[in-house]
Amino acid sequence: MTKLSTYEIDIVKSETSKIDQVDFNNLVFGRTFTDHMFYCDYVNGEWQQPKIVPYGPMTIEPSARVFHYGQAVFEGMKAYKDDDGNVFLFRPDQNFKRINKSAKRLAIPEFPENYFFEGLSTLLNLDKSWIKPGLGNSLYLRPFVFATEAAISASPANTYRFMIICSPAKAYYTDRVRVLFAEKYSRSANGGVGFAKAAGNYAAQFYPTSLAQKKGFQQVIWTDASTHKYLEEAGTMNIFFRIGDKLITAPNNDRILDGVTRKSVIQLAEDLGIECDVRRVSVKEIKEAAQNGTLKEIFGAGTAAVISPISAFEHGGDVFEIPEVDDSYATLFKTRLLNIQHNLAEDKHGWRYEVL
Ligand code: COI
Repeated sequence: MTKLSTYEIDIVKSETSKIDQVDFNNLVFGRTFTDHMFYCDYVNGEWQQPKIVPYGPMTIEPSARVFHYGQAVFEGMKAYKDDDGNVFLFRPDQNFKRINKSAKRLAIPEFPENYFFEGLSTLLNLDKSWIKPGLGNSLYLRPFVFATEAAISASPANTYRFMIICSPAKAYYTDRVRVLFAEKYSRSANGGVGFAKAAGNYAAQFYPTSLAQKKGFQQVIWTDASTHKYLEEAGTMNIFFRIGDKLITAPNNDRILDGVTRKSVIQLAEDLGIECDVRRVSVKEIKEAAQNGTLKEIFGAGTAAVISPISAFEHGGDVFEIPEVDDSYATLFKTRLLNIQHNLAEDKHGWRYEVL
């Protein structure tokens, strides 16, 4: 990808850095933030002058519409550093398109492309010492936008703030994940906002996920809201099933997030000659495959989760353990992806974006 035109950003640099207080070997996902943040306000029908300031608390009215009606969408991206200190993003064009698709669905004004890319590049240049080289290290980037207008009538806001904050990250899941297939609760419905990275989609999962956690399962794999017969996504990641040597993943629809890692895995499978069916996946066929021994793997794919293998699933009171296989597709895709992201392998699809 090529860099877009430069755009002036007002910068207030942090006088000191917090970096020396951070233990980069023991990071808990999403708890540590870099020295700077990017923001840009939408006022009078226009995005205003973008700014970068020291990371820290900000003032917002209690009546801001985001608190009352949940007008907020976000993205998840990562920056990587190679051994020569070059910094890369992975398919940032996809995140840019998706945040505006999400924004449109939530009646939030779209954010300009040059501000998005220039904001990312400038912020990453300021905070690049926070990106550690080496496979497994990254800087997680969280662009988000929310309604700031002080008004509590139920209608879209007139003012918004777009921001980017950065958090050094290692693995999201440190171990193989146990999941429960949803039988009662739903994450999204036809015609809803499931495809969007809307903050409320995540809040809606917290209670059912906490029930699953009490039973020893870290995540829920959501099923279609009308029949609970078809497996859709895990909320923190899209899901792939391997039956025999074939992969299966659910098709995108208005209930499922159009994952960047998901679409990259589908492409890598094609490159590797691994058959990947993009079609509805029924709970019944996965249970049958687990019973007759043809279910070799289930794994999640997402920016934070990267590729996360699943070790067991529960449905209808039955628990199915998935033994580890020697020729794991999850390991294969994870290695391929990380090597591309860290500039260690050929990037034949042009997914790497160098931050200059
Ligand atoms: C991401 O993978 O970037 C996400 O937004 C998932 C989130 C639960 C951390």
